[in-house]
Amino acid sequence: MSLSELPKLELHLHLEGAAPPAFIRGLAKEKSVDLSGIFREDGSYAYRDFVHFLSVYEAATSVLKSPEDYARLVTAVLEESAAHGVVYCETFVSPDFCGGSDVGAWREYLHAMQDAADRAEAQHGIILRGIVTCIRHFGPEKAKASARCAAETAGDWITGFGIAGDEGQGKPRDFAYSFDMAREAGLRLTAHAGEWGGPQSVKDALDDLKVERIGHGVRAIEDLALVDRLAEDGITLEVCPGSNVTLGVYPKWDQHPIQKLRERGVKVTVSTDDPPFFHTTMTREYEELERAFGWGAADFHEISQTALAAAFCDEDTKAKIAKRLEDHPHE
Ligand code: HPA
Ligand code: ZN
Repeated sequence: MSLSELPKLELHLHLEGAAPPAFIRGLAKEKSVDLSGIFREDGSYAYRDFVHFLSVYEAATSVLKSPEDYARLVTAVLEESAAHGVVYCETFVSPDFCGGSDVGAWREYLHAMQDAADRAEAQHGIILRGIVTCIRHFGPEKAKASARCAAETAGDWITGFGIAGDEGQGKPRDFAYSFDMAREAGLRLTAHAGEWGGPQSVKDALDDLKVERIGHGVRAIEDLALVDRLAEDGITLEVCPGSNVTLGVYPKWDQHPIQKLRERGVKVTVSTDDPPFFHTTMTREYEELERAFGWGAADFHEISQTALAAAFCDEDTKAKIAKRLEDHPHE
């Protein structure tokens, strides 16, 4: 079995965080911006820890200045994802970075991204959908402007609303107004929690934001009553094991709780988060899961079915993806 060829779904991918470093260096050169401080000698992104990662991420993002730049980014990212067997991907996009959360500007960025996604689908068969994401350390007021952009453009392509950024700042309830606005616009909801925050941060996201998926959520394992609640309520976790190991949430793959969560009945899926930052790809995630937990074709097929059920896209799109999964042997 070739792990790179297995059809995969990815529910948790930050668009700018998926930018290949060479792509960002190329844009910086075109725009005469000096970004040398954010790269190591070997060309990879340089950061010390999670909070520093967020500032390097924002520096890299600063060279993406127009709808055309975002279209090029979507093209580069989907080409890479398709090469790793990804057939369906949901990506986080932030109006804060795309026109400063002005609805008119946001629409232009969105159209450019959608056009690029349509071209990639025609060329590589990969399907992309967007989740508008507010940024926790930018505060609740900026989040409201992002939620307004999300509500105004909710539909076939923008399928969800979420929150990323520094989990150490503010509380989920500070963002409840924005999540209510997104929910009323028909958007599906997810929130980063339980990566840097403990089990209480997962409970807060569920209780205060009423999300149906949690980004990461892995530290729920520290409270088995919460694990059972996740299982009973059918909450899906967007687990990014390689990200967690690289950032030191867990010291080694073998110690990652994904397998324990799954065994206790929690719906788990697998994603890369910010692949070049964390030196990973979907293929690498699968290779490490095979090595650490003995996962094989049947396990990966189950993970894909879980992701398909939890995907925010419409039923026609799900049927197309289901066909791609069935076309591949998994016994
Ligand atoms: N986690 C939280 N916020 C982020 C990330 C991430 O991996 N990438 C970009 N914003
Ligand atoms: Zn993330």
